[in-house]
Amino acid sequence: MTIPHWSSSLSKLAAELTQRRISDVMQENAGTITQQALGITIDFTKNKLTQNVLELLLEQAQQSTLKHSIAAMFSGEKINQTEQRAVLHTLLRAQQSPLAEFSAVQSAREKAAQFSDKVRAGKLLGATGKPINTIVNIGIGGSDLGPKLLLEAFAAEIPSTLSVHCLSDVDYAHAQALLASLDLSQTLFILCSKSFTTWETQTNAKLVIEQLKQKVSEAQWAKHFAGVAVDQAAMTQFGILPEHQFCIWDFVGGRYSVWSAVGLIARIALGNATFERFLAGAAEMDEHFQQADFAENLPVLLALVQIWNINYLGHDVFITLPYHHSLARFPDYQQQLEMESNGKAVNQAGEFLSFATCPYIFGQLGLNAQHAFMQLVHQSQHKSYLEFIAVPDPSVSFADDVAYRSCLAQSRALMTGTDGVSNEKTCPGDRPSTTLVLEAMTPQMLGKLLALYEHKVFVQSVLWGINAFDQFGVELGKKIATSLTESGADDADLDVSTRALIDMHQ
Ligand code: F6P
Repeated sequence: MTIPHWSSSLSKLAAELTQRRISDVMQENAGTITQQALGITIDFTKNKLTQNVLELLLEQAQQSTLKHSIAAMFSGEKINQTEQRAVLHTLLRAQQSPLAEFSAVQSAREKAAQFSDKVRAGKLLGATGKPINTIVNIGIGGSDLGPKLLLEAFAAEIPSTLSVHCLSDVDYAHAQALLASLDLSQTLFILCSKSFTTWETQTNAKLVIEQLKQKVSEAQWAKHFAGVAVDQAAMTQFGILPEHQFCIWDFVGGRYSVWSAVGLIARIALGNATFERFLAGAAEMDEHFQQADFAENLPVLLALVQIWNINYLGHDVFITLPYHHSLARFPDYQQQLEMESNGKAVNQAGEFLSFATCPYIFGQLGLNAQHAFMQLVHQSQHKSYLEFIAVPDPSVSFADDVAYRSCLAQSRALMTGTDGVSNEKTCPGDRPSTTLVLEAMTPQMLGKLLALYEHKVFVQSVLWGINAFDQFGVELGKKIATSLTESGADDADLDVSTRALIDMHQ
């Protein structure tokens, strides 16, 4: 469904272009449709997109409240209307700011940096006097995915003297196995939870404390815990030492929080210099997003071309395929960032929308995907839109750059298809894709990339008229999980299926 208040010319052009193949449309365009900034080149050419369509899309953005909304976000207005909160994840990577919140952000950043240096210097001692050399992040969702992405992306930079782990889901055997593999007397557990109430995280934390009390120290287990949360009193109540408490704020959403002390395990493992370069990359993208004209603005263009594919060409599945090992975890991160932000059907006025918003998003490393689900993308009737992320390897020739060459081959194959000798061997092609080429995979570049997608999500939320920063949809499942615990199968209102399934557990 198209966006009602947008130009009807877009609908007409979509109807026309749907009848044509991408490769034909490409012939009509004078050359490629690409945009470059900050070492990122985005090639939009393999979409059913003409300059005329792009200009109309940009007109919609110009006529929308986007310019004002960008300024409102960066200036700390409470744009998260349903929760009456500002949205200031950009402040976490700013070098300076006039905003009142900035001093608290800077103090927290400095406290995390000092703590990181202390751990890396072997000066944080456990209850038995031994130095901490193992860090475990206990968190889930935005309190897990960002740190995990960073740790895996730059694992080679983690000194051999440190080991790091992430505990997110609740599986007693898995947690016990991890704890049994560690020397708890030299392990620090970071209880990472913005709300400090997430029951998966609390469950894992309580299991760890039991083990620490048994195996290290009944009285001084807190020497092995740090906390990252909004509520300092809750951390104190839990028993976390003041010097091990790291504050975050309600003006930073969980899926936008890796830049804060939520990223503490990565700041320790990779070192402050690397983590600060990550922040600096995001700050560069923030500047670009605020300053660049929409026609040269990477987040705006990425948002508009995807809206064209979703709302005008009807692609309701978005597949993300990074072709660089450092980005193996990026699809998981992007799923939460995009689907928890824009997986909504009600606008800021509380009205149900008549058009689609965020599509289903999945993906994995591109080469692995080619040996997993790309068959469906090439030959099924599903209408997928894909984004490829590639990083050319300058140390080898194009012919020897397997990842880069495969990435280009896939996007081309998805566009051209084949007239196979039989129907079984025919690939219809005409699948649209956008290719992002990163000049190198560095901490700065990862910061730019994550900020690029954060701002793309924000642009789409503004153009769709939805709030990207609340997530009421996740509450119902938690509420029912609690009621099942309390009333179990006795609940008269319980459906027969759930009741029978509960009984299977007895
Ligand atoms: O999935 C819901 C959610 O609230 C996410 O937004 C958040 O990142 C995750 O749960 C964990 O929340 P917390 O950091 O408060 O434990």
